[in-house]
Amino acid sequence: MRNLTDIGAAVIGTGFIGTVHIEGLRRIGVPVRGVLGSTPERGAARAAALGTHAYPSLDDLLADPTVQVVHVTSPNHLHVDQSRAIVEAGKHVICEKPLALTAAASSGLADRAAAAGVVNAVCFNLRYYALNQHLHDQVAAGDLGDVRFVTGQYFQDWLFLDSDWNWRLEAEQGGQLRAVGDIGSHWLDLMTFITGQPIVAVMAELATFIPIRHQPRGPVETFATARSTDTIERTITTEDVASILIRFANGARGSVNVSQISPGRKNSLRFEIDGSKSAASWDSEQPDQLWLGHRERPNEILIRNPALMSAGGRAAATLPGGHVEGYGDTFPALFRAVYADVAAGRPADRPRYATFADGHAAMRVSDAVAESARQGRWVDVAS
Ligand SMILES: NC(=O)c1ccc[n+]([C@@H]2O[C@H](COP(=O)([O-])OP(=O)(O)OC[C@H]3O[C@@H](n4cnc5c(N)ncnc54)[C@H](O)[C@@H]3O)[C@@H](O)[C@H]2O)c1
Repeated sequence: MRNLTDIGAAVIGTGFIGTVHIEGLRRIGVPVRGVLGSTPERGAARAAALGTHAYPSLDDLLADPTVQVVHVTSPNHLHVDQSRAIVEAGKHVICEKPLALTAAASSGLADRAAAAGVVNAVCFNLRYYALNQHLHDQVAAGDLGDVRFVTGQYFQDWLFLDSDWNWRLEAEQGGQLRAVGDIGSHWLDLMTFITGQPIVAVMAELATFIPIRHQPRGPVETFATARSTDTIERTITTEDVASILIRFANGARGSVNVSQISPGRKNSLRFEIDGSKSAASWDSEQPDQLWLGHRERPNEILIRNPALMSAGGRAAATLPGGHVEGYGDTFPALFRAVYADVAAGRPADRPRYATFADGHAAMRVSDAVAESARQGRWVDVAS
C-alpha cells in the first residue's frame, strides 16, 4: 500500500472541470505533475495559472514515469482515444463523463482496462455527495422497502439564450444527445447507483427549442456569460430538453425531465425514490438535506452529519454537520475512493465509484434514449 503523496497524477484538459480535478487532487494530497492543454501554448498558459507543469503532447505525458494516474477532462469526443492510450501505457485512469459518444465507441474499453489491471473510473461525482452515499446504503439495507417509483429532474439555464455557446452544442464534439449526455447521464447514473437497479428500457421525447444559435468567433469558456457581437449562425441538432420514461430491472418505474433552458435553475438535480416502506428525496441545490417520507409517522429531514450516516456516508464527508458541503467536495470524496485502489495497486472487486463498465452501461442507456426518441416507442437497453 503506497502513500497518496507518493502517487503522481496528470490532468488532460485545463477548462472548467480540469481545474476542479486539480483542486480535488491537491486536497487529498496527490501531487499534480502536470497538465495537457488543447495546444502546447494554451497548456503552458493554463499550467502557469494553475501552478504546475505543461506537457507538450499526450506522448510526453504518458512517458513521464512519475505519473501513475491520468485524469481525462477534455471534451467528450476525445475521451475514448485518450483513455485507451492511458490504459495501454499501463496507467490508472479517471475519465470524465460521458465515457464516449456512443456505446459502440466505449465497447471493449472496460476489458482493455481489466486486461491491463489498471484502476478505471468514470467521473460520475454526484454519487459522492455524502447523503447520496448514505441513501445508497439505506436502500441496500431495505430501509425504503422495494423500490417502486423513481422520479426527478435535472434543470440548468446556462444555454437558455440563443447567444449562449459551448462545444457541447455540437454533436461531433458532445455527442448526438446533449442535455441527456451532459447532465441527464448524471441523474440516470445516480439513480442506478442509489437503487442498485439497472435501467432496462426507456421511452424518450426530445426537443430543440433553439434551432439556430450564434457562435462567437473566438473560444468560449464553459458557463461563460459574456456576450460576443462577432458571431456565426449555427444550426443546432442536439436537444435542449428531454422527457424520459424508465423501467428498472426490478420492475420499478420512473421518469426524468432534463433541460438546459430552464430560467433560474442553475444546477437543479432532484430525485424522489418511493419504496414499499418509505421514500427519500434530495435536491442538489440543498445538498446537505435528505428528506425521508413516511405514511404512518412524521416525515424526517436528515441534515448531513457524519455521526448520523452510514459508513459510506461518513467516508464521503469531511466536515461536521451544519458545515455545508457541496459540489466541489464530491471530487475529493470520489478521488479518495479511487486513489485508495490505486494505492492498493488494483481495482476493488465492487467499487462504489463508477467504473468503465458502468460508463459503458450508461452509454447503452444513452443510445436507447436516442433510438426511442427517433422511433417514438419504448426501446430496450442493449445488454
Ligand atoms: N462531472 C461533472 O460534474 C462535470 C462537470 C463539467 C464537465 N464535465 C465533463 O468534463 C469534460 C470537460 O468539460 P468542461 O466543462 O471542463 O469543458 P471546458 O471547455 O471548460 O474544458 C475542456 C478543456 O479541454 C481542453 N482540450 C480540448 N481539446 C483538447 C485536447 N486535444 N487535448 C487536451 N485538452 C484538450 C480545452 O482546451 C479545455 O481546457 C466534458 O467531458 C464534460 O462532460 C463533467
